[in-house]
Parts: sequence; C-alpha cells; structure tokens
Amino acid sequence: METALLNGKREEEIMEAAVLLKAGGLVAIPTETVYGLAANALNGNAVKRIFEAKGRPQDNPLIVHIASLDTLPKLVATVPDEALALANRFWPGPLTIILPKASCIPDEVSAGLETVAVRFPSHPVARAIIQASGLPLAAPSANTSGRPSPTKAEHVLHDLSGKIEAVVDGGDCGVGLESTVISLAGDRPRLLRPGGVTHEQLEEVLGSVEIDPAVTHAVQKNAVVSSPGMKYKHYSPKARVVILKGGGEDYIRYVNAHKREGTAALCYNEDAAALQVPAVSLGPEEDGEEQARRLFDALRTIDQMGATLAYARCPKQTGVGLAVYNRLIRAAAFEVIEL
Ligand code: TXA
Ligand code: MG
Repeated sequence: METALLNGKREEEIMEAAVLLKAGGLVAIPTETVYGLAANALNGNAVKRIFEAKGRPQDNPLIVHIASLDTLPKLVATVPDEALALANRFWPGPLTIILPKASCIPDEVSAGLETVAVRFPSHPVARAIIQASGLPLAAPSANTSGRPSPTKAEHVLHDLSGKIEAVVDGGDCGVGLESTVISLAGDRPRLLRPGGVTHEQLEEVLGSVEIDPAVTHAVQKNAVVSSPGMKYKHYSPKARVVILKGGGEDYIRYVNAHKREGTAALCYNEDAAALQVPAVSLGPEEDGEEQARRLFDALRTIDQMGATLAYARCPKQTGVGLAVYNRLIRAAAFEVIEL
C-alpha cells in the first residue's frame, strides 16, 4: 500500500482524510500531544488494523477522540461530576479521562475492559478531521509499538509508511508527550500517565488525586496493572539509555570520564559545551515544557547518530517534569545511576 501524505492546512485534504476514515481506513493525524493513528472507533475491524500496523499487543486499549463535549455521554455509561469538572477546565486539551464504557464501544477499543478512555484534543487539524468524518476516532500514538511516539509527520512515515492509508501533516506537536491519563472508573481519581496537564493542576480541580505507583516505578512481570500500557517497554531508541541523577557538573564529569566509541549524551543547554561526546540537548534545565517538546525527537536523533549508549540527565519530577521523567525512565528501562 502507498501511504498518502496529506496537508493539514488544506480543506480538501482534510476531507480526503475523513473519506478514508469513513471507509474503515487508517489515517495518522496530528494532535497537540503526539501524532495519533486514527480509525473509526465504532468499527471493530478498522480498529483491529491499528494493532496490526503498529505491532501493538492486543490487550492494550485505545483512546477515543472526540471534537465536542456532546459526544461524551454516547461513549460512556455515566458522566460523573468530576468528569464534567475536568472537561470544563482542560478540554479541548491533553487530558484523557477513563470512565465505564457504553455498549457501542467495540472490544477491540477497550481490549476487553469495562472502561473506555476519552480525549477531546485541541489541535485544529485533529478537530477538523474528527468533525469532517462525523466519527469518534480511536487513536494510539502513530509509532511502531515500543518506539518513541511521533512528534513530526516524518516520524510517522519512518515507522508506518506502506502500512497505513495516509498521514496528515500538521507540523510539529506543541506538547510533545502523550496526554495525561486519569481514571475516574475506580473509587478515587487516579493518575495513570502524567502529561501536559499536571498532577498539580488535576488536584486544583478534584482535590487529592492518587498517582499510580507504575508512573514512577517498574511494573513487576505478570502484575495486574490499572493501565495495560504500563507494563510494556516503551519509547525505546535502539541505543541503551542510562539516566544519571545529580547536578550538571557531576553529570559532565561522569560522561566525560566514561566516554567510549558510540557514547552520546542527552543533556540540557547549559551542559552541552563541556561534554566531550556527541550531545543532543532537550532545552534549558529549568524549562520542562521545552524538554517535553523535544524528548521523543531527541531519542530518535540518538539512533540516527548511530549511538549505542546515551547518558541522560535526570529530569525534575514536578509539573511537566514528571511526564518527562516517566517517559525517559521507560526509555532507559529504569536504569538509573546516582552520582
Ligand atoms: O496524547 C495521547 O494520548 C495520544 C494522542 C494520539 O491522543 N495517544 C496515545 O495513545 O498516547 P496510546 O495508545 O499510545 O496510549 C494510551 C494509553 C495506554 O497506556 C493505554 O494502556 C491506556 O492509555 N488506556 C487506554 N484505554 C484505557 C482504559 N480503558 N483503561 C486503562 N488504561 C487505558
Ligand atoms: Mg503509545
């Protein structure tokens, strides 16, 4: 199959994407977080093809994307007050809410769970495509399973060219990491994946929000987890990534003392000049949002450089930093050295 590259700035090409989706096709679309691989969420056969194209494990459920709050009650069994409060504050935007599902949600979307994850993205191209198709769209990140999520159309083509009908180019993603995922399906609100909407912001609306232990710690093999995606290896470049926990000077000293053929550094702007290995910067040390925006592209760049080992600075675990930390620690398979 030839994958069409469509331009998200052109109305006719948005319509073309909508036609492909209505016919059961797979179309990668830009969102404010990362590119998503979309299909009609109400068509189990179309959704099945998402799993095949990505090589995604069957038991990992998908997020359903909507472009109007009115669609939410059709997809879920009930809309609790907490969900409305979150939707009013953060939608459209990088927040996914898990609720008990309605019967129209196919098993392929929910992976057999009794719940469904719903998100109302803010990206104008994503919203235009959802509206033009008139469908709720199931969409995981548009990468090959296990690889860093795509933040540019070229990342999607690199992973999925020839396997999907089209990619709609909407430029670089502004947030750069996947949406925050919160579950309202249990007794108490629980943060399952940190993202652009921070834990602190969620607590402003809901009071206390538990952070699932899997956000910051490795999940034991065969453990029962709140979110199936937590147990898979994620965001991995081909290079081994090792996180160094400590200040900038200690980091520079360690990397320079341990450099070998194939060593690279994932650093902050302030560290770059003093490093004696090829370095990719995530931005200024104090700018968590810039680090979020650049992380996945940086992980792909490390591979293009042919690096076999990359030493990364350990991000702060507050604000958007918690999301950067969560993705980086998985890219590093939880390998951390305290300096
Ligand atoms: O920003 C995003 O959320 C992007 C864009 C495309 O919207 N999508 C995305 O999807 O990151 P994906 O499939 O890569 O990650 C969805 C995560 C997975 O960890 C999955 O296990 C979890 O959400 N999830 C989905 N439905 C769930 C459910 N019903 N219960 C628990 N976890 C769920
Ligand atoms: Mg993903």
